[in-house]
Amino acid sequence: MAIRNIREIGDEILTKKCKAVSEMTPRLRELIADMLDTMYEANGVGLAAPQVGILKRIVVIDTTGEDPHILINPRILETQGEQTGNEGCLSVPGKTGVVTRPSYVKVAAQDVDMKEYELEGTELLARAICHELDHLEGRLYVEKVEGSLMDTADDEEEEEGE
Ligand code: NI
Repeated sequence: MAIRNIREIGDEILTKKCKAVSEMTPRLRELIADMLDTMYEANGVGLAAPQVGILKRIVVIDTTGEDPHILINPRILETQGEQTGNEGCLSVPGKTGVVTRPSYVKVAAQDVDMKEYELEGTELLARAICHELDHLEGRLYVEKVEGSLMDTADDEEEEEGE
């Protein structure tokens, strides 16, 4: 397990569409373990493989610090409602912006054993799922910000990045 370097906005890899994972390998298991370590180290609530330079459809999310979700080849099945709030991204350090996302998301994905499962999320989990799945399409939240991107206030608790 290791901490990987997080790519930042301006890096072309963050604009590329990721490829599906066809089989689990020891290398991918190591990547997923490293992605979790890297996300926790950076105090993030989610991380997508392209953020560590790998163009594969893999996402890790943990909005509570004790409930890691690993989503391989995730597909959104259903969304409902709307929530508007602040969002940040580990690839856009020191910034935050207002983004509207669904308030409920149901997603299908595969786990580390490539077993199919479904995950439902509301509030921050719904937001994180949408944010991370956008990364797999080469899209950053900054494209969706309403108004302008703001600096994270220094005296504020650090924004949760995704
Ligand atoms: Ni992000």
